[in-house]
Amino acid sequence: MESFVRGLPKTELHIHIEGTLEPEMMFEMGERNGVALPFQSVEDVAAAYEFDDLQSFLDIYYQAAAVLQTENDFAQLMAAYLAKAASDGVRHAEIFFDPQTHTERGIDIGTVIRGFARGQKRVAEVSSTLILCFLRHLSPESAVEVFEQARPYLAYIQGVGLDSGELGNPPELFAEAYRRAVEAGLRPVAHAGEEGPAEYIWSALDVLGVERIDHGVRAADDPALVERLVREQIPLTMCPLSNQKLQVFPDLRCHNLKELLDAGVLVTVNSDDPAYFGGYVGDNYLAIATALDLSCDDLAQLARNSVTASFLPEDRKVALQQEITEYVASVL
Ligand code: HPA
Ligand code: ZN
Repeated sequence: MESFVRGLPKTELHIHIEGTLEPEMMFEMGERNGVALPFQSVEDVAAAYEFDDLQSFLDIYYQAAAVLQTENDFAQLMAAYLAKAASDGVRHAEIFFDPQTHTERGIDIGTVIRGFARGQKRVAEVSSTLILCFLRHLSPESAVEVFEQARPYLAYIQGVGLDSGELGNPPELFAEAYRRAVEAGLRPVAHAGEEGPAEYIWSALDVLGVERIDHGVRAADDPALVERLVREQIPLTMCPLSNQKLQVFPDLRCHNLKELLDAGVLVTVNSDDPAYFGGYVGDNYLAIATALDLSCDDLAQLARNSVTASFLPEDRKVALQQEITEYVASVL
């Protein structure tokens, strides 16, 4: 099953580029840029990565991102991620970045975006696009402000998203920032129903007009919502190892991915913050397959869903679906 998963052509739709910062690179950049870290060694880091919930992770994640300073740093981070993705069978990635994490500490948004673009060019085997995320623990005004700072760079960006601490920060607060982003042609998505209630999924759909829900596991609490997700084929970008590390489910065997997949929801498997949660996208496919006893057919369906749920043009989707069909026929 391991070699089946690694070779299975797939897309990655829920990956935070700042969450791909491996401890080794964090130390290297910290030293190069004279940025002190709260850890002394890679072993220290492993001990610190025991999380109780989303917030306990975010506290460390935002601190670590401070080592990213120059255009080169952002390029190095992006190229390293895409090279790993390529070895996991990823053909296309739609990649979140959090500009406010960098602009709030005085880094110019152009440095961030130009760096990512250079990194994207270095890895030819994986196509990729950027999704600009607003930090929901910051104000709606700050979201509008960072969107305006990003305006000169919209050619580099395909989508707009919403992440960070969910509870108490509902989607509807960010209606104005989304209105501007969508008017400018960006495709809207949002994290909802990770720790927050099913109501946040409704408001992400109805107020922000999102095309995909990131995580969305709490949708299962609301049968009318599940019915809508099925009827409208609204994708959920799920991240099993993230849910396990942040204790969204008491155990991966309690995860509702298979239940929602069987109900007809367009479920996908992704990696969220792989440097923090113990694995890249292939590891996520394998972990959930083991926990829920998924078949190779289920895994192929998840890969097909990842293509359907992407923002790729129709001709590329058709070609990738064909590639999956041929791959499955050749190995099963
Ligand atoms: N949820 C919310 N914000 C995030 C996450 C997540 O899983 N990862 C990085 N920022
Ligand atoms: Zn996420």
